[in-house]
Formats: sequence, structure tokens, C-alpha cells
Amino acid sequence: MDIKGKTALVTGAATGIGLEYVKELLRNGAQHVAVCDLDSRKGEKAVRDLQAEYGVDRAIFIKTDVTNTAELEEAFKKTYTTFKALDIVINNAGILDDGRWELEIAVNVNAVVRGTLLGFQYMGKDKGGKGGVVVNIASILGLAPMAGCPVYVGTKHAVIGITRSFGLPYHLDRTGVRVLAMCPGVTDTPLISEAHLRQLMGEWGEECGRELDELPKQKPENVAKGMIHLIKKGKNGSVWVSEGGSPAYEVRIPDRQELRVE
Ligand SMILES: NC(=O)c1ccc[n+]([C@@H]2O[C@H](COP(=O)([O-])OP(=O)(O)OC[C@H]3O[C@@H](n4cnc5c(N)ncnc54)[C@H](O)[C@@H]3O)[C@@H](O)[C@H]2O)c1
Repeated sequence: MDIKGKTALVTGAATGIGLEYVKELLRNGAQHVAVCDLDSRKGEKAVRDLQAEYGVDRAIFIKTDVTNTAELEEAFKKTYTTFKALDIVINNAGILDDGRWELEIAVNVNAVVRGTLLGFQYMGKDKGGKGGVVVNIASILGLAPMAGCPVYVGTKHAVIGITRSFGLPYHLDRTGVRVLAMCPGVTDTPLISEAHLRQLMGEWGEECGRELDELPKQKPENVAKGMIHLIKKGKNGSVWVSEGGSPAYEVRIPDRQELRVE
């Protein structure tokens, strides 16, 4: 997909990696971006800065709690009615907080499913749309276990299974919407700050911090560069890793047919 002139909706985009996706999309010629986030103060500030740099009509903030179905639906509706288009959806909002694992599942899994279905609803050719792309944000912890945050790991594994299944030809043939997953490695944002881990993760926080410390780190900008590659070139159902400041690479996970059945 050529990003020039396209309209995107990004959740959890007021800060962190989500905001970098938005900036990189605008730099690459996206015409409009909807910044959707729970945090109005940071979201509105981010959009003021984006408007100053890229033009007033190119970004809007929509206060959205992705765990609230009505608010997420309204975010898609408002994006579509404001810009008369939707081409790219990035389901990015996520939390690392096994101390509140029900909420973690609601944000990291339920809202990703809802965002994917809304992507189909607004972009699907079967619904009168032009097709498009949905990128769901997993993690390298969607591909490997970790003792310090087992539920977070589970949510991100779920994102990969859901994305690969919506990314099978049946859905693409129906909708013209590609569905892909991005798995960032450890990336310098508030999500993984030591204080956050200690405060929110309770007794496992220390172990979680220790395990994360062993992994290569990077800046959010690197994931955002990888995201552009995925949107432009990523195959339907593909899963990509961006870690350690290196270019994003695709990972191969065996298909059902490749598993040995006795
Ligand atoms: N930072 C990392 O090392 C890392 C690694 C792998 C994957 N990820 C994933 O990348 C995504 C972004 O992470 P980040 O590091 O930028 O986190 P972050 O904490 O810096 O930013 C997350 C954003 O999501 C918003 N948010 C949280 N709950 C929300 C809700 N219910 N509704 C709407 N918005 C909500 C927050 O307000 C915040 O702006 C997450 O899905 C995370 O799991 C991050």
C-alpha cells in the first residue's frame, strides 16, 4: 500500500510507540490521522504539536477508552465522518500490568479484536469499503514466555493467533483488508520504566524488570520505521519483529498443515 494520501486511526497514540507511528505515517505522506487515547491531556497536546508541524487539518484527537465498546465504535465513526475515508488501523493501545490482569486482557486482547472487526466494518469491500490494512500490536513476548508477566505474555500470544487467523485468505478475499502483527522488542517508553514495573506489577515486578533488562533495547522511532515497511509491503497474516534498533524482520510460525499429527 502506498501511504501517500491515506487516512489512519491509531489507538493508544497519545504517547510512546503509538505517537511515533502517527508521526512516521504523517512524514510518509498520510493525509489524515486520528489519535485515539484514554489520556486527553497528552492526546490533545500531541495533536497540537502534530498540527503545528504537519498542518492543522492532518490530525485529530479522539478521547477513546478502547475497553469501552461504544467509545471505540464512536472513534471509528468520527474518523470516517471527519475524513470521509479510512485505510489504515493500528490497534496499538496496550498495558503491562499483571496486577490488574482482567483489565490487561480487556485492553490487550478484547480491544484488538473489536478494533479488527471495526476495521473490517469500515474498510471491508464486502461492506462497501475500498479495503485497507489493520496492524495489531503484539510483542516479542507474544512469541516467547516470561516468568515476570505471564498474563501479559498470554495477551500478546493471543494477538498473534487472532491476527494470523484474520490474516488468512478467507478474510482477505471477503474484505480486501490485510491483517498483520508487529512485535516490538523492549522499547524505551513509560510502559517498561522501572518505577512502573515496581508499582504496578507487585511481587513479580522485580523479576519482570530483570528479564526485560536482559533483552536488547531500542527507541520507539525504530519500531515506527518498521511499521511503515509492514504497511507498504507486509503480506496478509504476517508477523514482524522490531527489536534492538535493527530493521523489522518477518518471523515464520508453522502452519497447521506443518504440525505433526499422529
Ligand atoms: N515498550 C515496549 O517495550 C513494548 C514492547 C512490546 C510491545 N509493546 C506494545 O506496544 C504498545 C504501545 O506500548 P508503549 O510502550 O508505547 O506504551 P505506553 O505506556 O508508552 O503508551 C500506551 C498508550 O496507550 C494508552 N492507553 C492505555 N490504556 C488505554 C485504553 N484503555 N484506551 C486507550 N488508550 C489506552 C495510554 O494512555 C498510552 O498513551 C502496547 O500494545 C505494548 O504492549 C511495547
